[in-house]
Amino acid sequence: MVASSARQNKNENETGPHMDRISIVGGRRLRGTIPISGAKNATLPLMIASLLTADRLTLKNVPNLADVNMLARILRNHGVDLTIDGKRADPSPHLGETFHLSARDIVDTAAPYELVSRMRASFWVLGPLVARCGVARVSMPGGCAIGTRPVDLHLMGLKALGAEIDIDGGYVVAKAPKGLKGTRVVFPKVSVGATHAILMASTLAKGETVIENAAREPEIGDVAECLIKMGAKIEGVGTSTLRIAGTGRLEGAVHTVLPDRIETGTYAFAVAAAGGDVELKGARRALLETAFDALERTGVGIADTPAGVRVTRNGGPLEPITIETQPYPGFPTDLQAQLMALMTKAKGTSVIRETIFENRFMHVQELARLGADIQLQGDTATVKGVKTLRGAQVMATDLRASVSLVIAGLMAEGQTTINRVYHLDRGFERLEQKLSRCGAEIERLVSG
Ligand code: EPU
Repeated sequence: MVASSARQNKNENETGPHMDRISIVGGRRLRGTIPISGAKNATLPLMIASLLTADRLTLKNVPNLADVNMLARILRNHGVDLTIDGKRADPSPHLGETFHLSARDIVDTAAPYELVSRMRASFWVLGPLVARCGVARVSMPGGCAIGTRPVDLHLMGLKALGAEIDIDGGYVVAKAPKGLKGTRVVFPKVSVGATHAILMASTLAKGETVIENAAREPEIGDVAECLIKMGAKIEGVGTSTLRIAGTGRLEGAVHTVLPDRIETGTYAFAVAAAGGDVELKGARRALLETAFDALERTGVGIADTPAGVRVTRNGGPLEPITIETQPYPGFPTDLQAQLMALMTKAKGTSVIRETIFENRFMHVQELARLGADIQLQGDTATVKGVKTLRGAQVMATDLRASVSLVIAGLMAEGQTTINRVYHLDRGFERLEQKLSRCGAEIERLVSG
């Protein structure tokens, strides 16, 4: 086991707004294997779950990402002791690092603006902290600028569990000196974050909590499985009704993070875009049936293999598609930009409706720089397939938008340079290596 200070210092630099760029020369087919990392959106709440116990929580298959490192800083600030084992060698290169988190002594129940404003999921510490310590003070969140992204559902759930909530100077202050009390929480809208937060908080509440209209994303199931290993009593995992029998205390556990379905889908779209034959090692088709179905409808081959999923496209045309984003098991909003990039060269007109976030179209104007023909009206993008995209300078604006530009760059003639790739580093581990090992002409141009 290694102490994490060197890694931490390195990553403090990595999470700064540095100006690396990525250069891609399009037109190369992809062949080989891409290892799929552990899911970012499961790792973050799993790390936060460590706040619920004084014992050690061990997480395996943790991806090395800027968001994970940022959350590690936030948790250390609360007093969580975090040590890291190194990445395992082949033959399982997709297995990530192992984190050991121990929140024996929570020394600070406040999460400051400087840290929380950089990543929305860090707001999710509010529920576990108030559940365990009876008080928490957490800055209102930041994160990718893809919509207004309020936190009303989080606050509604915590109030229902008996917490007193105040807003003070941009901070949410939650108090429950006598502990939280189980209750029925009916979410008026499906929210991944609010489901995580109330699920975690209710494990330490007195009595039973029922969460209705809970999000069903596989990452919530993964967190629930981990909480069950920690001693929580949860029924209905994978459904929209979760029943939690509160226990006064949770214990330590060992849990392996599930594979990243958004990374899986992204590389599947990349292979579809560039053409070729790639095995996504460690991928699980069952985690993203809707996205794979959509790809099959466009004419891309998808097949299960013993080690993952194989994606093939051998020169045939891409059929256009009509789709809208929906909570799981619908088509994920986190793959909307990637799908749109692919459809810019389809043989006809695609219609893509975004129903989750109201401002998640910032990739449209960047794709237009490459020659894409996209009309936006309200929540709907109409994408007319063009024969040719041409490389250009483009700007990464948020995590998933950035990677859609990589996909477009793989299809474009000539060179595409993507600026501000720090957005990409929040959620994609070793993206350039994973693609270049399969034959893509892609490199990082390090600034300074
Ligand atoms: N919403 C509210 N009130 C709330 C919370 C959410 O109105 O209190 C709204 C949001 O504004 C949005 C909708 O509900 O319109 C859904 O938001 P949700 O809470 O489900 O999103 P989130 O928890 O903030 C997570 C992922 C996102 C992913 C969404 C939707 C993590 C760390 N983040 O965000 O992932 O897009 O669910 O699936 O799990 C990404 O990884 O790039 C990313 C943005």
